[in-house]
Amino acid sequence: MSGFTLAQRIKELPPYLFADIDKKKAALRAQGKDLIDLGIGDPDLPTPEHIVAAMQKAAAEPRYHRYPSYEGMKDFREAAVGWYQRRFGVSLDAATECCALIGSKEGIAHFPVAFVDPGDVVLVPDPGYPVYATWTRFVGGEVHYMPLRRDNGFLPDLAAIPADVAKRAKMMWINYPNNPTAALATKDFYARVVEFAKKNNIIVASDVAYSEVFFEGEPPISFLETPGAKEVGIEFQSLSKTYNMTGWRIGFAVGNAQLVQGLGKVKTNTDSGAFEAVQAAAVAALSSSQEPVEKMRAIYKERREVLCGGLQKAGFDVLVPKATFYVLVVNPKGLTSADFVSRLLDAGVVSTPATGFGACGEGYVRLTLCADKARLAEAAERVQRARV
Ligand code: MLT
Repeated sequence: MSGFTLAQRIKELPPYLFADIDKKKAALRAQGKDLIDLGIGDPDLPTPEHIVAAMQKAAAEPRYHRYPSYEGMKDFREAAVGWYQRRFGVSLDAATECCALIGSKEGIAHFPVAFVDPGDVVLVPDPGYPVYATWTRFVGGEVHYMPLRRDNGFLPDLAAIPADVAKRAKMMWINYPNNPTAALATKDFYARVVEFAKKNNIIVASDVAYSEVFFEGEPPISFLETPGAKEVGIEFQSLSKTYNMTGWRIGFAVGNAQLVQGLGKVKTNTDSGAFEAVQAAAVAALSSSQEPVEKMRAIYKERREVLCGGLQKAGFDVLVPKATFYVLVVNPKGLTSADFVSRLLDAGVVSTPATGFGACGEGYVRLTLCADKARLAEAAERVQRARV
């Protein structure tokens, strides 16, 4: 045997950001190092009890043990669109404008398979969730990065997209509240996105995984609230961050029926749907009191004061988030994001280089609020020690 050759698309791919960080963490922990893990955005808080109870009950029901429906249970899709109506005032048809996902990452990955042909341009935010660009490339699409800069509120400058690129573009990814910058979109920005998409015949794919993690001001808005958005767009929603359900793998896509159906066609040929007991638990999450979500927000808000306050007191330039549980910290002078991350790891704090989300992330590292207050206070001290 001479060994196996990886496909070119995989050879060219850097290791998945968080898989790589996991390896480094495991190696240091094996040496006995105490690490405060503020790397991946994986809530440490438990899934609310009533959701776990709904899952326990559903798991015992044989009717849920068979293949799920491809598009998701009717109850689940109805719960999802009901939640959209209550939360955003957006009306959707559960039968044609909603589809269950095995976590929003799955839908985000598969969506370009339905709509991007080789040579099509996909407009991707930089920094941005790595999956947007990876799957564009997997299907032979061309990535055009839209820089997100602090002085522009981390919103892409649509006017800066060259006309010939806009003409060849098939799709644009947007993500607000934003990972990793924590920026929020405005109604005016979304209106401009609709106008741009209509003018250039572009599909808008909006990732709103963090819409429920917010701390001040008006709750974040959905792209689909924008007049005309449903003619051009689809939105990817996740239960992971709202209900601390990252391990459960459940989300949904809603929006333009043609876009939802296109994604559905990829999925019927790829997976066999989300475990129906998980969908039943998700119905409980979406349809019952949202008080646990309120409590979660209050916890993150307190944590935000501890971490950001501690870092600011130590003289760091910190982008205090109004939403998401991500905190960008500006690198100390003379350090790249990679240098800073490595120093932080030596000091016992796991962080993520914002460059892991794209070249425009240079200058920042990302910390999460996914640890309790005592650990975050300790983390702030360790970060301070890492500077010297
Ligand atoms: C992150 O840390 O950026 C995300 O949690 C990763 C993910 O949601 O897959």
